[in-house]
Amino acid sequence: MADKAELRAIPSVANALGSIGVLEDSALVPFTIHRVYFIYDVPEGSERGSHAHKKLEQFIVAASGSFTVELDSGTTKESFVLDSPSVGLYVPPGMWRDLKDFSPNSVCLVLASTKYDEADYLRNYDEFLSWVGQNS
Ligand code: TYD
Repeated sequence: MADKAELRAIPSVANALGSIGVLEDSALVPFTIHRVYFIYDVPEGSERGSHAHKKLEQFIVAASGSFTVELDSGTTKESFVLDSPSVGLYVPPGMWRDLKDFSPNSVCLVLASTKYDEADYLRNYDEFLSWVGQNS
């Protein structure tokens, strides 16, 4: 597991016919991929997220269009604009996230280290802060 959120370049195979971006379990995606999901058809002005995960690691890519991911560790906040399929955002566990500013027709592709598990979510910000206090 990597210890901090960061943007990472995605290698691509490009020729005159276009490009292929490739994501595999690797140093780039530092976990075994157990789930892939994608968020699309987000109405203009909508915000998603508003939760953290206790164990889940994610790698987030703007497969199409653009959006902003705001991350909060409980002590520091960072904002990342994802606007290219050639860059992804690694998100370690324990980060409160808000996703906003989705462009029309954007697709937020997420690689995840576990299958869906509602018990892994922290959906209340005060609960998140107390979890951070107990786990740091
Ligand atoms: P949630 O993770 O809260 O979405 P977002 O952070 O994008 O706002 O999930 C929204 C709903 O979708 C929630 O009821 C759980 C469900 N869901 C699944 O059933 N499986 C999944 O893999 C994901 C990501 C969500």
